[in-house]
Amino acid sequence: MLATVVPRITIYPQLASAFMNPPILQFVWRGEIVTLQHVPPTRTLLQLLREDLGHSATKEGCNEGDCGACTVVLGQLQDGQLSYKAVNSCIKMAHAIDGMALWTAADLAAADGTPHPLQQALQQCHASQCGFCTPGFAMSLFGLYQNQVLQDQPLSRAQAQEALSGNLCRCTGYRPILEAAQVMTTLPRVKVDETRLRLQLASISPEHRTREADFSYQAPTRLNALLSARAAHPQAQLVAGCTDVGLWVNKLHMDFAQLLDVTRVAELKTIEVQDTQTVIGAAVSLHDAFAALAQDRPQLHAFFSRFAGQPVRNAGTLGGNIANGSPIGDSMPLLIALRTSLVLMSMRGQRELPLDAFYTGYRKNVMAADEVLAFIRVPKAKPNELLRAYKLSKRTEDDISAVCLAINMQVQNGFVTQVSIGAGGVAATPVRAAQTEAALLGQAWTQATVLQAAATLRGEFQPISDMRASAAYRSTVLAKLMQRFWLESQGTPNTSLASLTLEGAST
Ligand SMILES: Cc1cc2nc3c(=O)[nH]c(=O)nc-3n(C[C@H](O)[C@H](O)[C@H](O)COP(=O)(O)OP(=O)(O)OC[C@H]3O[C@@H](n4cnc5c(N)ncnc54)[C@H](O)[C@@H]3O)c2cc1C
Ligand code: FES
Ligand code: FES
Repeated sequence: MLATVVPRITIYPQLASAFMNPPILQFVWRGEIVTLQHVPPTRTLLQLLREDLGHSATKEGCNEGDCGACTVVLGQLQDGQLSYKAVNSCIKMAHAIDGMALWTAADLAAADGTPHPLQQALQQCHASQCGFCTPGFAMSLFGLYQNQVLQDQPLSRAQAQEALSGNLCRCTGYRPILEAAQVMTTLPRVKVDETRLRLQLASISPEHRTREADFSYQAPTRLNALLSARAAHPQAQLVAGCTDVGLWVNKLHMDFAQLLDVTRVAELKTIEVQDTQTVIGAAVSLHDAFAALAQDRPQLHAFFSRFAGQPVRNAGTLGGNIANGSPIGDSMPLLIALRTSLVLMSMRGQRELPLDAFYTGYRKNVMAADEVLAFIRVPKAKPNELLRAYKLSKRTEDDISAVCLAINMQVQNGFVTQVSIGAGGVAATPVRAAQTEAALLGQAWTQATVLQAAATLRGEFQPISDMRASAAYRSTVLAKLMQRFWLESQGTPNTSLASLTLEGAST
């Protein structure tokens, strides 16, 4: 049903002499296998589409993963299963789609021009005006169509909203677009020819190709190959989903001669649920890692849906979020509160350390040049644990935290028997609130204890003022979140922070 493209090999003459045996990039697009040579390691997929392949249907808006105009869908064959993911092409390195299938907004209609059901639905619901955002919305809807509608799963408005959380529209408004998501489920189904696609994907699997002679973009498929490449090329820039590194390239104009991609390493893409812990490979996507964690602790679903938008959660990895070490990163406060430990590996061996001992300063950590973050070990939920994670940001969807706080506590016979607290946005790294934990441990779980703990938490860190929040706001809100946690533990949900006074909680 897809339009045909002539498979081609593109040569970048300026680079042809730089590499003896350049990496080949192959992917399935419009029913054909496309083969490209001499694609520079930091060429983004959007640049490749628009500038090299002359394909303008995929739009460029922000060029930093925020607006969704550049959204495309990638199909991947893994363990015999085909998966479909909407991602932002502006912050995806072109080589990262090696061995995958690609769909853009111009690839949805049938060969005779009949629009795809989702396109018909967008049209019927008047869900586009200027149309700049529309190609991106269409692709997020296509991901949803493949993963949900064709799986015969009912599609709620909330699920549609989540799938579209990475797409911004400034003129149509979201109601007609969300309506279109519902309408597309009622139209006659259109399927991708998966039999042909599977054969094509199997025939271009990167596992069957070797790129030893050139190191400009390496994506090993086994852990020992990754560790050996890391040891041999410690100067290479390690990348995972590139949802952060993509911004260094696009916005900070950084260039890297060598990229070492961890996302194909089979061992790092596993999730193992054991009796006492869940072990998550560092290259597991944020979407899959959050789903595994929410399985054990369903109350975290709302918190996870506040992390970026769906395309970033599809591309970004849990390991990338931790290794990146942003002080306003969202998974780390939670993982610190859950007493997570990290496994670092190199050719020399492996070591395990608590997450809160990983950071040494602003975006600095203990990893040696030949090490990688391999596994994240998260203890399973205890039967009587009280756990909450709070993210405060200016916008609900797709926004970065001003403050993030996660509290994990056990209370027995009215006394606090275990507590761990992780905080973000209040120091140069994600941190553990050790003083506040000490103020709570062994105390009666009463309002007086809470006010004391709130006062301690308010004074424990010296946050800075920036465009997201003032230092005073950050300190104050920490104390208020502690009070909210107390109220929620007493069965009072959804307390407005503004309604909480800090009486007795001054520092
Ligand atoms: C629009 C947008 C919204 C965002 N919203 C949020 C948000 O709400 N909350 C939030 O926390 N973050 C957010 N981010 C930041 C980003 O998505 C996350 O930090 C993400 O988890 C990074 O993962 P990645 O796999 O893309 O890492 P990459 O960008 O590939 O890498 C980031 C860093 O981690 C290192 N690294 C990656 N994997 C490993 C490994 N296995 N071992 C050692 N080092 C490794 C890389 O070398 C690099 O230094 C947002 C980003 C964008 C573009
Ligand atoms: S251009 Fe805005 S998300 Fe890519
Ligand atoms: S239709 Fe104009 S921005 Fe969405």
